Amino acid sequence: MNEGQQRIGRTAANGAATIDPNKLPQHVAIIMDGNGRWAQNRGSARTVGHRAGVQNLRTIVRASVSIGIPMLTVFAFSTENWERPPEEVAYLMKLLDEVLEREADELHRNGVRIRVIGARTGLPESTLRAIEAVERRTAGNTRLWLNVAWNYGGRADILQAVRRIAERVAAGDLAPEAIDEQLFTSFLYTAGMPDPDLVIRTGGELRISNFLLWQSAYAELYVSDVYWPDFDEEHYRKAIIAYQGRQRRFGGL
Ligand code: IPE
Ligand code: IPE
Ligand code: MG
Repeated sequence: MNEGQQRIGRTAANGAATIDPNKLPQHVAIIMDGNGRWAQNRGSARTVGHRAGVQNLRTIVRASVSIGIPMLTVFAFSTENWERPPEEVAYLMKLLDEVLEREADELHRNGVRIRVIGARTGLPESTLRAIEAVERRTAGNTRLWLNVAWNYGGRADILQAVRRIAERVAAGDLAPEAIDEQLFTSFLYTAGMPDPDLVIRTGGELRISNFLLWQSAYAELYVSDVYWPDFDEEHYRKAIIAYQGRQRRFGGL
């Protein structure tokens, strides 16, 4: 355990390695970081790491279903990730198409509802079609709600909400006094979803990198040094156990 983890990722006081089914986080969000370093450490191209990362997402989705987590949001491509070399960006876009098409059957069979959150503008036509198809197909599923944050940025999320609210105000449909937290939340990409209780970041960086800024106001943070492709079910369970050992105060006493 590194210094950061000790500071913000406390393990359960009794050290017991079991999850309390009555205190499950209702929404887990994961910053899936470290694919590139994982690959580089093995002398492989970064793209190899992204592919291994997809494989691991499958593991964590299955684990979420078996643990009984109702909602999982994964950060897969940020609004800032466009800054990467065009070959890597193109590879990631193609990978999403492939995953949405290839995994849809199994996810659907397992009762997973898929939503892609983030800006749709700038995405290739093929990606837009794949997103719409999988969202439509899985819309009725209730076992696990899986949100894939793609072309997602917390600031962009807040701005698109502000813009749409401003349009309503300008049109005379909404009074400025009616803008409260509940209304604002309903304009975010995550409308209708509970705030994340637990935000996990793999790959060891101690930052939020523009993920769910508004929504994680009171989320518990857990950072693991393990690179995403190696973050297996056991690591995941450990994170949930650490969460269950936290005392949440929400500003109270
Ligand atoms: C996370 O892994 C996946 C994406 C951001 C698409 P990285 O690609 O950021 O891997 P590192 O952080 O460079 O190791
Ligand atoms: C955060 O990882 C975004 C995703 C995991 C999709 P980054 O690798 O982009 O974050 P920084 O650049 O280290 O802050
Ligand atoms: Mg990274």
